Amino acid sequence: MTSQLKDEVARLQREGHDVIALGVGEPDLPPPSAGREAFAAAVRRPDLAGYPTVKGEDRLRQAVAAFYRRRFGVEVDAEREVLPLLGAKEGLLHLGLTLLDPGDVALLPDPGYPVYMSAAAIAGARGEAMPLLAANRFLPDVDAIDADAAAAARMAIVSYPNNPTGGVADVDVFERFARFCVERGIVAVSDSAYTEITFDDYVAPSFLQAPSAREAGIEVLSMSKTFSAPGWRAAFAVGNAEVIAALQRLKTHVDAGMFRALQHAVAGLLDGHRASRAEVSATYQRRRDIVCDALEAAGVPVSRPKGGMFVWAPTPAGESALDFARRVARQAHVVVAAGSSFGPTGEGFFRLSLGVDDRRLREAMDRLVPLLRQTPGDDP
Ligand SMILES: Cc1ncc(COP(=O)(O)O)c(C=O)c1O
Repeated sequence: MTSQLKDEVARLQREGHDVIALGVGEPDLPPPSAGREAFAAAVRRPDLAGYPTVKGEDRLRQAVAAFYRRRFGVEVDAEREVLPLLGAKEGLLHLGLTLLDPGDVALLPDPGYPVYMSAAAIAGARGEAMPLLAANRFLPDVDAIDADAAAAARMAIVSYPNNPTGGVADVDVFERFARFCVERGIVAVSDSAYTEITFDDYVAPSFLQAPSAREAGIEVLSMSKTFSAPGWRAAFAVGNAEVIAALQRLKTHVDAGMFRALQHAVAGLLDGHRASRAEVSATYQRRRDIVCDALEAAGVPVSRPKGGMFVWAPTPAGESALDFARRVARQAHVVVAAGSSFGPTGEGFFRLSLGVDDRRLREAMDRLVPLLRQTPGDDP
């Protein structure tokens, strides 16, 4: 959320309005009970209260490898190819510092999760946008990347199911991207936050299923959305052993690893993922339909996402993303994210999060849809 919009929302809340927050992608569901039980039991063990290691417990790294084998048919070396992260955000930021020097280029999806740009900027590198266009199913067009930028690039990020566009990618797309990176010595990073939230029988692949993926780079797998555990701050870097080792070296100077009791809990989540996945996906699919049905009934052209926890839709003609988000906040007391906050290509779009229950979501759409039919000039 932009700071202008944050201020607006804070003001509305201070004034006592019933604000429905669809601006951020925070799951409202609880983490699966098996994981919570495992956490409670582990917290009671004094032997797990000491300093962890950045590398993480064998039990956890094995659970990640078993997850990749079971879920994606991908063999991962738990010893050399898995590194726990304190959330994907931490991992992505430190990957930027690991892989990029000042003056380097990072190829970043536009629109994209804003931390990608932060990672490049903090490393002193330049972010080069890979526009994700509806006409290209929100996939990056590697042939359109500027040759000089590609030559100076050291890191390139893809993320599917995509935040914010809802686009999805198949293994062929990942392979083309991996080859592009391998041929130019660019480290590929697949930010995988939503592979386990998918709809209509669609099953999302892992980047690591692409034959060249391991040579190209790594996947960052977040526990936050799939396992409804954003506060646990748990994710993994999985894949290329050299990249993993470099990231581990940097992190050794930054943090001391994940709380050991939490590592046991996260291993429990991964072990029980099959049960939680279906339930979580069904919940978000129902919500996706509430939102998309309402938008379609209002004549808004929206592509029903096949995964993730967002709906991406165009703002009324002629109205900027930020103006629309502010008008919706002021008049409907509903917070949506302005598409432009994810990059210039997001201008003219807004993003709705599916992280509230059905009743509140229906109410949000009842309030918001009339504003889609109004022209901006109707704002009092
Ligand atoms: C694409 C994407 N990557 C990463 C994250 C952050 O994940 P984590 O909670 O593991 O830091 C998010 C959260 O919104 C996201 O949408």
